[in-house]
Amino acid sequence: LIISAHGYKHRLVDGVVMPPYITPSRYHLSRTLSTKPTDVCFVSYPKSGSTWLSYILVLLTSPSNDLNNYSRGDTLRNSLHWVESSWTYPRSREDLDMAADPRIFKSHMPYSMALGGDPATQACRYVYIARNPKDVCVSYYRFESGKSWSGFFQPDWELWLSMFCRGEVQRGDWFEHALSWWRASRDRNGPGDNILFLTFEDLKRDTAGQIERIAAFLNIEVTKERLEGVVRKIGFEEMQKTSFSGLKDVKEFNEFFRKGEIGSWKDQFTVRQAEAFDRLYAKRMEGSGLDFVSE
Ligand code: A3P
Repeated sequence: LIISAHGYKHRLVDGVVMPPYITPSRYHLSRTLSTKPTDVCFVSYPKSGSTWLSYILVLLTSPSNDLNNYSRGDTLRNSLHWVESSWTYPRSREDLDMAADPRIFKSHMPYSMALGGDPATQACRYVYIARNPKDVCVSYYRFESGKSWSGFFQPDWELWLSMFCRGEVQRGDWFEHALSWWRASRDRNGPGDNILFLTFEDLKRDTAGQIERIAAFLNIEVTKERLEGVVRKIGFEEMQKTSFSGLKDVKEFNEFFRKGEIGSWKDQFTVRQAEAFDRLYAKRMEGSGLDFVSE
């Protein structure tokens, strides 16, 4: 475990800054897990809409037609397997072998550190959700401040922004993370077929259309009624008031629903900071074919 000069607690895993709860044994298990065709793994950089996506996946794959009684576990959290993390509900390899299908895995890893090792060799389907990095940076800043797993680190905004731009926050460099999955998803000779690349902004602006894309990717047939029901349940206000009480500290879980908008970076970035960030963005994203809406 490393505590930086600023008091930021983290761990280096394969050279990437990670939270302390990515322990060597959990990481090893996640890398060596062998997956099945019915498995779904949703992946994102932190604060990119993963809780939102997780609820969509759980509702779409729910064995019950009653969306109020959706989950396979007793809570949303318990319906997911977060293998790389020792934090919430560490499950053993045997637990995972016995878990009901379809298994839904959560991961915040860049492509080179994916669940199952190399996604190109895995039967699992991966759904990646990316979000414009200025909103990610702000959402992450608000969320991460004073958290136990970061050593109660409370940076000022300027410091956080510079750490984010240098890839020094937990889960590493945003550009590397998003671009690694983007490139893999486009590789039709490689893993592309089992990776669906989504964005927070598309999901926000065309919710039903994106849910249909997810369902088609997973070969799930959804009736119009089911689709409407899912759209209703995953609305921001609806999710915010739902009790997902999967964590001991419910308040901490409620922080997963802060604003849920596109462009809230504007309340945080100065004009100068936004310009500098946009220059970095242009340089790092150049030629990738990936671009984000940020307002
Ligand atoms: P903000 O902090 O900008 O509000 P994650 O779940 O990956 O940690 O991402 C959290 C971000 O997703 C937060 O962004 C949160 O508000 C937003 N979010 C969560 N549920 C949402 C929903 N149903 N609709 C829109 N945004 C949502």
